[in-house]
Amino acid sequence: MKAVVQRRYGSAVLGDLDVPVPGPGEVLLEVRAAGVDMGTWHLLTGKPYLLRFMGFGFRRPKSPVPGMDVSGVVKEIGPGVTEFAPGDEVFGTCAGSFAEYSVAKVSHLARKPAGLSFAEAAAVPVSGGTAVQGLREVQAGQRVAVLGAGGGVGSYGVQIAKALGAHVTGVCSTRKVELVRSLGADEVVDYTVADFTGTYDLILDCGGNRSLSRLRKALTPRGTAVLVGSETGGSLTGGVERAVRAVVVNPFVPQKFVMLMSNARGDVFDELRVLIEAGKVKPAVDREFPLSEALDAVEHLYSRRARGKVVVTI
Ligand SMILES: NC(=O)c1ccc[n+]([C@@H]2O[C@H](COP(=O)([O-])OP(=O)(O)OC[C@H]3O[C@@H](n4cnc5c(N)ncnc54)[C@H](OP(=O)(O)O)[C@@H]3O)[C@@H](O)[C@H]2O)c1
Repeated sequence: MKAVVQRRYGSAVLGDLDVPVPGPGEVLLEVRAAGVDMGTWHLLTGKPYLLRFMGFGFRRPKSPVPGMDVSGVVKEIGPGVTEFAPGDEVFGTCAGSFAEYSVAKVSHLARKPAGLSFAEAAAVPVSGGTAVQGLREVQAGQRVAVLGAGGGVGSYGVQIAKALGAHVTGVCSTRKVELVRSLGADEVVDYTVADFTGTYDLILDCGGNRSLSRLRKALTPRGTAVLVGSETGGSLTGGVERAVRAVVVNPFVPQKFVMLMSNARGDVFDELRVLIEAGKVKPAVDREFPLSEALDAVEHLYSRRARGKVVVTI
């Protein structure tokens, strides 16, 4: 099969690999589309270096094929699989979606939402799943700010917070203002003109690496800041210091900092499917790239030009 093959950090090429064989609890997918997320950029480059100590592979990436987000058709089922059958259309995550075929754990898949193309479905799992988990405690009528609202996680964050009945402020740069408005944000703040003001019950922080004190100032006395991530933390640690500071500060302040470590699986993707089929969430796909240009797709996302999500179609 054709696949993007990555034998070491910082270098990947389109090559040929054997079609993988599904083990117990796994299925073989004919990949139709692969979503691109910032985690894929991190695993392609091996940066921040800290991730090499976190089980993703010290000298080289553990998985020879990049890409996590996947949508496709079940081709074969492994031993013991009863949840899916050949021909089922699914979406979810796997280790290596930048390929014609990939093996995925059944627990990491859900049925593809009706009415979505494969490209749209592949744009959902990692970013949408992260947003669902980050907004778990939101209640109707609360005020929510989404920082990085024009990006992958943020574009779902705005829509999901709206679906939960919150009043949503999206914070983004100028070229993403229209997108964020179209996603349903009640207010859109272009941070290049003036940073966001006001107080919020919850801040979903997906970009900008603002200081903890800046976040606290924008929270109600019992508000919560969910730290998703940002790309301005440097190539050594990726800004994990802010999260460590948050752990230290947490017991001494009335507000709460939550360090999100997304662990979205099939059950979360099913929640997203329900929201999508109800018309409450729609993936914002900025651009599709063919498999032969998968690395350009990752670069497009990293350059911050993408409004919403980037997808590789196979
Ligand atoms: N904790 C977890 O489990 C988890 C899961 C998924 C992702 N992440 C991390 O979370 C971060 C966001 O992921 P993503 O997929 O949404 O990335 P993304 O698609 O690149 O979106 C990030 C957004 O932040 C915006 N941004 C940058 N500086 C900003 C600022 N000062 N104020 C407001 N927005 C700003 C960016 O563009 P503009 O500046 O043009 O608006 C971009 O739209 C990444 O660092 C990723 O690695 C963490």
